[in-house]
Amino acid sequence: MSEDFSNVNEPGEPSSGTAQIPMGIMIVLILLGYIGCYKVDQLNANFAANVHAPFTEPDEVASLAPSAEELLVARGKQIYSKSCVACHQANGAGSGTDIPPLAGSGWVLGDPATIVAITQKGLIGPISVAGKNFGAGTMTPAGETLSADELAAVISFVRTEWGNRGGTIGTDVVNAARKTVNDSGQNGQWTVDGLRAAGFAVPE
Ligand code: HEC
Repeated sequence: MSEDFSNVNEPGEPSSGTAQIPMGIMIVLILLGYIGCYKVDQLNANFAANVHAPFTEPDEVASLAPSAEELLVARGKQIYSKSCVACHQANGAGSGTDIPPLAGSGWVLGDPATIVAITQKGLIGPISVAGKNFGAGTMTPAGETLSADELAAVISFVRTEWGNRGGTIGTDVVNAARKTVNDSGQNGQWTVDGLRAAGFAVPE
């Protein structure tokens, strides 16, 4: 005899349905997500490309960056250490006998066009620098192959280093002075009289 189970009272087969997350929890989750994104944004300066930890603001980064002038002078220092240091020395004092100083020199602090002319063609003394006469050595055209950028940088360096207060210069000064040099037809190294004749300012 077989038993009939059809009327046994047991729950039906499990089935899948839909149940909603309670609205309250939904709102809290959305709010947390929003606050999270806001915080991440804020701590990363809206993902500005130039801002990284530990900085949170572009202004903070900008305030620490070297100025354009500082960059120019720093570049000039590198060029000086290649093109000028062998003669004028790291401290800008020259050799005391045949190489004149750039520190405290009226030639360096005066019209920058004159330095462009000197570095472009070189110089044969005698010249007077900071009240002392020099002439035993001659200067080669040490800046002749430098670009206008590089020459502006190295001149800016010598005019602002070692206590010099001459100020930085731009490529416009270099280009204008180079044009005057070319127009003068100067061949070979300058003499002091030659510089004067070409219209370059020469310190007393
Ligand atoms: C080969 C050695 C030598 C090199 C390299 C050289 N100079 Fe000179 N420089 C001299 C000599 C020497 C004089 C003085 C000329 C003379 O007595 O005949 C002089 C004079 C000067 C003067 C004018 C006088 C003064 O002391 O202010 C300036 C400015 C100057 N040099 C700048 C530079 C700069 C900038 C560089 C690099 C781009 C440079 N020189 C590279 C040897 C050199």
